[in-house]
Amino acid sequence: HSRSFSQLHSGSRWPSFGIAFDIDGVILRGNEPIGNSPQALKRLYTDCGKLKFPFIFLTNGGGVPESKRAIELSKMLEVNIQPLQVVQGHSPFKQLVNRYENDLIVAVGKGEPAAVMSEYGFKKVISIDQYALFFDNIDPLGPYKKWVTKMTLDNERTYSKEDIYSERVKSAFIVSDPVDWSRDIQVLCDILRCGGLPGREYSHQPPLYFASDDLEYQAAFPIERLGMGAFRITLESIFNRISYSPLKYTSYGKPNPTVFENARSILESLPLDCDPHTANGHGASRQPLDTLYMVGDNPVVDIKGACQAGRPWFSILTRTGVFKGKGNHEQFPADIVVDTVEEAVDYILKKEC
Ligand code: G3P
Ligand code: MG
Repeated sequence: HSRSFSQLHSGSRWPSFGIAFDIDGVILRGNEPIGNSPQALKRLYTDCGKLKFPFIFLTNGGGVPESKRAIELSKMLEVNIQPLQVVQGHSPFKQLVNRYENDLIVAVGKGEPAAVMSEYGFKKVISIDQYALFFDNIDPLGPYKKWVTKMTLDNERTYSKEDIYSERVKSAFIVSDPVDWSRDIQVLCDILRCGGLPGREYSHQPPLYFASDDLEYQAAFPIERLGMGAFRITLESIFNRISYSPLKYTSYGKPNPTVFENARSILESLPLDCDPHTANGHGASRQPLDTLYMVGDNPVVDIKGACQAGRPWFSILTRTGVFKGKGNHEQFPADIVVDTVEEAVDYILKKEC
């Protein structure tokens, strides 16, 4: 079509499409690249390694700050990823910083959940790992947990018992998949039932936020693994049996329409290395992109989300993750189904270039 590419003065052509790649089950399985992802991504760069076509990672996963994740992904995938290109389940939490900037908040999940929240600007963040240590016997199963865990509190501010006992937790954030479900469910029930201070009388529930609500996702094991949505269901069903009022919470991540709106605005303003709008330091204000591709492996999350977001989103389902069927998914059919991400990129570039 007419605006597929804009002709630039230099003779280079300006793309009118962008791509959002899911990570788990599309780009990686655990920490291993799949579906020839490094080769596929390489095609989105110039021969000298400069970003040529706008793309981002749009994952419901997380646990490390976007800047650090960009470095990890660059190493694993052998291309240069900018922090702006990494959108994780917890990325929208930064919009809540004004609400809780100086309040005590608890961060839960694998990796460095407290470092993630501090990087977003929250001033008084404590990981549930550190928080639980202030309450003797809060986890009666603790003494039976014989495994050795490396507690990474190094990137985290440390607190005194006085700090913790004098202030109620104002909100809890499930940043990434929780590690010790039994302790985390116990301690979260305490915080949420007792108005933010375990051991006190029952009181109103502080707000609770989940980075995503994936029931299952594709990790390194051949069959899908339980995700944050499974943890949410577990916590919710227990909380609702032991508390006076049902659990109140907010979940972010795909398939929420806001995630796709945000992805669109990032793709439309992402500085490209050959971009005349940004090369000279001006912020990009390019034309809206004609097509936005969502490449995902999970029909109920990635494809449902792209479908609800409507045009210009175009969904591509791979067979390297949660979806393993022969044809298309029945309930949430994608615009096209391919075997791998490499095939997806091939399809996009053939169509667009
Ligand atoms: O924990 C990660 C998982 O829930 C989903 O990741 O990249 O498939 O959206 P992704
Ligand atoms: Mg996935």
